[in-house]
Amino acid sequence: MDIIHSVADLRARLQREPNNVFVPTMGNLHRGHIELINIAKPRAACTVVSIFVNRLQFGPKEDFDRYPRTFEADCAKLRDAGVDVVFAPDEREIYPEPQTFVVEPSDLQHVLDGAVRPGHFRGVATVVLKLFNMVSPHSAIFGKKDYQQCLVLSNMVRQLALPIEIILAETVRAKDGLALSSRNAYLTPDERKEAPRLFQLLDKARNEIVGGSREYQAIELDVMAALAHHGWKPDYIAVRRQSDLRDPQSENKKLVVLAAARLGRTRLIDNVEVNL
Ligand code: PAF
Repeated sequence: MDIIHSVADLRARLQREPNNVFVPTMGNLHRGHIELINIAKPRAACTVVSIFVNRLQFGPKEDFDRYPRTFEADCAKLRDAGVDVVFAPDEREIYPEPQTFVVEPSDLQHVLDGAVRPGHFRGVATVVLKLFNMVSPHSAIFGKKDYQQCLVLSNMVRQLALPIEIILAETVRAKDGLALSSRNAYLTPDERKEAPRLFQLLDKARNEIVGGSREYQAIELDVMAALAHHGWKPDYIAVRRQSDLRDPQSENKKLVVLAAARLGRTRLIDNVEVNL
């Protein structure tokens, strides 16, 4: 496994291996990331993983500084998973000058997580486009836990005609249902016990919709109230269309229930798809 820090070295290495598949990450790798790599590996001769905590996608009061950085442990996991190239640039390599050209991801960047985290999806789309230009993969894998991110990036690739296939992977969960996330590391032991409630409530909402309820607003309010009752501070619970995250119409059969809520100092997101 080659660990590469500069764009020039990356390009030189990948000239030998142009058939590559890409898994972008911010490090602090867990089983969810390894699953993305397992999906990637059979698809190309060379699997490239990036580790870069992207300041551009964090708000000024968010957790950029305390985001867990575990480079050595990450590299050990990537070696075990059979990754070929790790690209771990520093900030000057990705942003050698102020980033004045950015990717504006349409209306999608202003709803749900975008409304709570202004500029977040602009930062994600901008860094992912830069990483795509550096790695030139034919495919890239993203996890559905970040549902809105998946949609933003799929739209970017389609609208900018990038020759890259976006592959979406199912969310990997702990045995108790909690979606795996690097931010779970912030939870205290008591919060960790409470955290699976988010998925349990989303699952209950899914069952109500599958069971015939179309009272989406009532379902959203019920989940909000249950979370608040157990000490959470919900940002949003929303039943939306899978295709564009707009409010569902009666004819829509592919829905998703999305949630973001704070438990103590930790902000967790999760979602469940509902296919009617
Ligand atoms: O999902 C993430 O870890 C990040 O948003 C990504 C895609 C690596 C961009 O920084």
